[in-house]
Amino acid sequence: MKCTFTVNGKPVETEKGGSEALLDVLRGELGLTGSKEGCTDGSCGACAVLIDGRAENSCLVPVAQVQGREVRTVEGLSGTPELARLQRALVTAGVTACGFCVPGMLTVASEHILAGEELDGVSLKQALSGVACRCSGYRRILQVLDG
Ligand code: FES
Ligand code: FES
Repeated sequence: MKCTFTVNGKPVETEKGGSEALLDVLRGELGLTGSKEGCTDGSCGACAVLIDGRAENSCLVPVAQVQGREVRTVEGLSGTPELARLQRALVTAGVTACGFCVPGMLTVASEHILAGEELDGVSLKQALSGVACRCSGYRRILQVLDG
């Protein structure tokens, strides 16, 4: 069974149109390794991608569910000034340790930014509560993302 959808604005087609996880197709077939594979059970948020503008954990999404839909990965999230500002801030502040959680954090923050929401420290923390950071940088990352 084939599955066709768009990733970062480009049409893609995969033969793995069944229960294969979207994350596995993105990383293994399309080479988009920005989305990280952590727990594979929906609890760490490292694999978050935007599907039709909503952040979802791609390890839990069967690729058949994105048939005809728009997927954006962290590789495709540099298109707006606000997102570019967040990415630059994280790099220049040097707040991450291993950085494993950053793609998930940027993706989840992007869901709200692209929807035109103002994120303050409280709402940002709430939005990112589903993305686990195993290193000590979590608080500083939130501070940087909050500007
Ligand atoms: S790898 Fe998907 S939530 Fe952890
Ligand atoms: S910086 Fe290592 S998991 Fe967050």
